Parts: sequence; C-alpha cells; structure tokens
Amino acid sequence: MIIYKTREQAELIRESCKIVNDAIAEAAKMLVAGITTMQLDRRIEEYIRDCGALPSFKGYSGYPFASCISVNDAVVHGFPNDVPLKEGDIVSVDVGAFKNNYHGDSAYTFILGDTDEKVKQLVRTTKESLYLGIEKAVAGNRIGDISHAVQQHTERLFGYGVVRELVGHGLGNDLHEDPQVPNYGKRGSGPVMKEGLVIAIEPMINLGKKDVVTASDGWTVLTRDGKPSAHFEHTVYVQKVKADILSSFETIEAAEKGNLNLFS
Ligand code: MF3
Ligand code: CO
Repeated sequence: MIIYKTREQAELIRESCKIVNDAIAEAAKMLVAGITTMQLDRRIEEYIRDCGALPSFKGYSGYPFASCISVNDAVVHGFPNDVPLKEGDIVSVDVGAFKNNYHGDSAYTFILGDTDEKVKQLVRTTKESLYLGIEKAVAGNRIGDISHAVQQHTERLFGYGVVRELVGHGLGNDLHEDPQVPNYGKRGSGPVMKEGLVIAIEPMINLGKKDVVTASDGWTVLTRDGKPSAHFEHTVYVQKVKADILSSFETIEAAEKGNLNLFS
C-alpha cells in the first residue's frame, strides 16, 4: 500500500534528509588515507544524535551501525570496520535519520585520492543516472520509467552491471515503504506515480557484472567478480512538473571540493 504525503509531511522528511546529508558531509571532511570506516560511522552517529534525531539503520532488521559504508567491491550495506582506507578507494556512505516520526535516506560515493579513469567514470555515471531517474519521477509516469532511465544510462550506454537484488523504495514513517523502485525495467511498467509519493531512488551500479554475493557478516553485499561498485541515493517528492528533491548533495559536494584528499 502506497502512503502519499502532504507538503507538511514532505517538509519533515526534508528536515530528516538535511541531517543525513550533513552527517555524510561531516564524514567527507574526515576522509583521508589511513582513517577507518568505523571512525566515520562514530562521527555520523554523533552528528545525527546531536541533531535530536535517531540513526534509522541502527537496529533496523538487526543492522548494528548508524551508517552503511561500502568500499570498492562492496555494493551496499557495508559494515563499518577497522581497516584503514587507502588512496584509490571508492567509499559509499549511506545514512538514514529519523526525526519527527519521519525518515530521510541518502547516499554518496567518494573517490579517495587518485584512481583509474574507468572507476571515476563509473562513479560519475552512477550519479548522472540518479538525476536521469529523478527526471522521470513526475506524476503520471510509472516507476518503470525511472528504472528504465537508470538502466539505459548505465547498462546500455556503458555496459555496467545494474544490481537486481536491491532496489529503491518508498519512505516516510517507515524506512522502507511501498513501492519498490528497481534500477532496471521497462518504460511504462510498474505503478503509476501520483503527486505526494515520496521515494528513495538509489542506483547501485557495478563496473563489471551485475551479480552480487552477501559476505559472511550477513549484510555486506559484494560484487561477485570483485570489481568496484558505486551507489548514490536521493529522497524525492513526486510532483506534477518535476520532483522536489528532499535530500541535497550541496553540503557534501562543498566538503568534497574542500577536502584535497578527494577527487571531485
Ligand atoms: N539506504 C539503504 C536502504 O534504503 C540502507 C538500508 S540499511 C539497513 O535500503 F540497515 F537499514 F537496512
Ligand atoms: Co534507501
């Protein structure tokens, strides 16, 4: 069942998203070779709680951390750990925050230091595919129009692997609500979107093949071929002419540009 949101409810979701994005920006400021993803997670959790919010992911189906930090061949749901990051790593930081009974959800992939042009292209293209998907998130279109736009730009144009097992989602009082938002599919398929729908669109794109496996921790999703994967996520509010993007990369991109350890 899809739960549509009023403008007031959407503004509460925007407030939660702001906390999420600023928490990711805090992590971006700290990114340097040698730091661990556990250190980033601690700062993210502290930031969220200082804002009077709760980390949405912690305790969700037993997930043990405030953030998912997925490095290189980790696609999503990476456990923060004590392994120092190194030059050339790509680091996806996915965060959720819950405040005023509403969740916000967003993710961003950083490039630490210099890396192969083909990895940079993967990250750039994944981000572009998110915005191309968002362009289709307007009332009257179908979910499949978003899916098709993402798949077209990544799989068809660049030959990347689009992960099938994980999808975007509705959100609001719950972190995961209907409908599912796949990153692959046919134009004109799936549920029709109406004004007031709030969805998280989150392309997960592999440099190599689409296949993934779950690590022995039961959560971390890895590419089967060991090649890198990128992930970006926005929470958006479906409207008549164009979607209102409730999350924002503004503070993250400012932190990325200001941190000379990051390629941007
Ligand atoms: N952004 C991801 C999602 O929407 C992260 C969820 S992690 C979990 O599915 F731990 F909360 F499941
Ligand atoms: Co999500």
